[in-house]
Amino acid sequence: MPITAEKLNPIGGYFELQLPQGYEYYPDLVRLNTGRNALEYILRQKGYSKIYLPYFTCEVLLEPIKKLQIEYNFYIIDENLEPVLDFAIETTACLLYTNYFGIKQEAVNRLSFQIENLIVDNSQAFFCEPLAGVDTFYSCRKFFGVPDGAYLSIKRKLAKKFQVDVSYKRITHLTKSIDLGIEAAYLDSVKNNTVLENNEIKQMSLLTRKLLSAIKYDDCASIRERNFNFLHKTLREHNLLKFDFPSDAAPMVYPFLYDDKNLKLHLIQRKIFVATYWPNVYKWTTPAMYEYYLTSNLVALPIDHRYTLQDMFNMLNILKQLL
Ligand SMILES: Cc1ncc(COP(=O)(O)O)c(C=O)c1O
Repeated sequence: MPITAEKLNPIGGYFELQLPQGYEYYPDLVRLNTGRNALEYILRQKGYSKIYLPYFTCEVLLEPIKKLQIEYNFYIIDENLEPVLDFAIETTACLLYTNYFGIKQEAVNRLSFQIENLIVDNSQAFFCEPLAGVDTFYSCRKFFGVPDGAYLSIKRKLAKKFQVDVSYKRITHLTKSIDLGIEAAYLDSVKNNTVLENNEIKQMSLLTRKLLSAIKYDDCASIRERNFNFLHKTLREHNLLKFDFPSDAAPMVYPFLYDDKNLKLHLIQRKIFVATYWPNVYKWTTPAMYEYYLTSNLVALPIDHRYTLQDMFNMLNILKQLL
């Protein structure tokens, strides 16, 4: 049979951006546009009537909850960043737990036995594999230079076929920072966060998928672990947050809790850009609450694949002058 022109891939023309062709880290999970929409997907699929979520999380998770008009209650966490389960969870309700900073996989394992309808938010724990039968989602841009994208582990898929997202207009911060530096593109990255608000569920864009297929995941994970370990050796004695080094976790950041709420500001003034997790917690809690204290005093030190041990050493030197 002759091949018609419509069936033929175009040949020739200009060159596209050339990226290495590798593999996605989670090729078998559902690919979606954002983490919050992965939560919406779970809520739609499971039809829960109510959700318990931590005070200590990102407010964008309320987007799907409000959209679907699901009842929600906040719960508090203890000094190990684990839920204080002093309430009963109704049979039609679920509880969302965040694998904080990627260091709470053991808590996730325990909760998966304790809680019937558990949802795991692994947005901060890209390298923690999902547990079988536990609905788990990931947000890719918290770990890699991609504009959006989420993975979802869920047993039964929704029947609806979702539109494929298009994200080429949302990569200015990723390209501009290569040309002009990370500080020059900061406002573009903030703009991208805003553009991701209140979108419907879509499938991950082809661009994001291609970018995710070009990443050397083993290298990224081992650099994170190495850097995390290096910081922990020096900082553990000063760190008010107590934890054992999580094996095989490749965390998102090194969480350093210190009794000086100005430490973050002093680091930022020295060009160590540490994020606040999460500014909305100030609105949701009172100054007497642990979550409020975490938000103001927890310093999320970068440990990712961009940094050498020398970078970690330099950061530690600056930090130690401030302790
Ligand atoms: C813990 C946590 N979960 C989920 C999300 C939502 O991810 P996304 O921006 O991909 O919707 C965020 C932040 O955006 C987050 O910090």
